[in-house]
Amino acid sequence: MKEHHYTCTLIEVNVDEISESERQLITKAEEALKSAYAPYSEFKVGAAILLQSGKIVLGSNQENAAYPSGLCAERVALFSAASQFKDERIIAMAVTTSKETDEPIAPCGACRQVMIEYEVKQNDAIKLLLSNASKKIYISQSVENILPMIFKLEK
Ligand code: THU
Repeated sequence: MKEHHYTCTLIEVNVDEISESERQLITKAEEALKSAYAPYSEFKVGAAILLQSGKIVLGSNQENAAYPSGLCAERVALFSAASQFKDERIIAMAVTTSKETDEPIAPCGACRQVMIEYEVKQNDAIKLLLSNASKKIYISQSVENILPMIFKLEK
């Protein structure tokens, strides 16, 4: 028998310990909260993606009366970026919530799987800036860090 261990490292930072462009990206994710449509959960989530060109693409959660038809903020932002700016490298993504949660927002499993698709495709890490209304910030240096042992099609 052999054990395999995977680790996940999140770096907690103060707002003055990150770059101006990262602070700006978090502010953009906060702005995205305004477009969240979350009448069922009342849990608003905003996401902002920084592309290599400097463009920023926003997304927010969009709920639906038929619950599973809704979509998380991260996937709204990622699919929007990928469909408008095909093949542009994603540098970073900030995600936040309007709630004063104990911990910064933790992207759901489905969103992590979608994020990793783009990270693998561009062969370069996507930095994640996860925060909340209490301004607690966690950085993950890549998506793979928060989704170890990823599913990949062996070709
Ligand atoms: N949600 C997101 O948009 N992103 C996350 O990382 C976690 C959850 C949304 C889905 C749903 O609209 C609401 O938050 C409550 O689950």
